[in-house]
Amino acid sequence: MQTTEHISDVRTAVRNARQSGNRIGCVPTMGALHAGHMSLVEECRQRAEFVCVTIFVNPTQFAPTEDLAKYPRPIEADLQKCRDAGVDLVFMPVVPSLYPDGYQTWVTVDEVTQPLEGTHRPSHFRGVTTVVAKLLNILQPDVACFGMKDYQQLAVIRRMVTDLDMPVDIIACATVREPDGLALSSRNMYLSAEERTAGLSLSQSLFVVRDALRDGATDIAALELQMKTHMQQANVEVQYAVIVDPHTLLPISAPQQHMVALIAAKVGATRLIDNVEIFLD
Ligand code: PAJ
Repeated sequence: MQTTEHISDVRTAVRNARQSGNRIGCVPTMGALHAGHMSLVEECRQRAEFVCVTIFVNPTQFAPTEDLAKYPRPIEADLQKCRDAGVDLVFMPVVPSLYPDGYQTWVTVDEVTQPLEGTHRPSHFRGVTTVVAKLLNILQPDVACFGMKDYQQLAVIRRMVTDLDMPVDIIACATVREPDGLALSSRNMYLSAEERTAGLSLSQSLFVVRDALRDGATDIAALELQMKTHMQQANVEVQYAVIVDPHTLLPISAPQQHMVALIAAKVGATRLIDNVEIFLD
């Protein structure tokens, strides 16, 4: 497994791999790798002979009040996981390589960035789309894998790739959960035992409304309130708990064949997000 901080090394490695007839796959991450990230790597290996994981805690997607400084960076453990998973290349650039002095170019996506995360983290998606566009330009992969755990992020990236005619297939990968339902997240390591228990109320709420909709419930507002109440009873500070259209992420007034329920909530000082797609027959 090759590891590098340098853009020029990545370009050389990718060029060589492609000349040997390999498809190039890419899994962008911020590190602190867990089984959710590794499921993306596994999916990527099914679709590409040469797999690159990027590890970069992207400062431009964090607001000044957020956890950039304390974001976990267990680099040796991450590299071992990549080695064990058969990754070919790990690209871990330093901040000035991607954002040198004088940097002033941003990629923004309009509508789908506005609701939900956009309301609570106004500059977040500009940072995400800019860094993902840069990573895709550097790597020029055939496929790139993203998790449905970050449902809105996936929708935003799909929009960007379509709108900017980027020649890459975006693959959506299912959310990996703990056996008790908690969605894996690098931020789960901030949780105390008590907070972790409270955090279970997110997935519990989602599964309850999914099952209710499948069983014929029709009152979207009542189901949203039910999610909020369940989390508040667990002492969780709800930022949003909604059932929306999966493409626009805008509110719906009645159940439709395909929906998504999304939650963001603070458990103590830690902000967690989760979602579940809902399909009616
Ligand atoms: P990060 O939070 O490290 O996540 C990297 C990828 O792993 C994302 O596509 C995310 O959706 C996916 N992922 C996280 N938890 C998951 C889980 N439990 N199951 C399945 N997939 C999961 O998302 C980012 O980094 C950044 O915003 C990034 C796209 C790298 C841009 O900086």
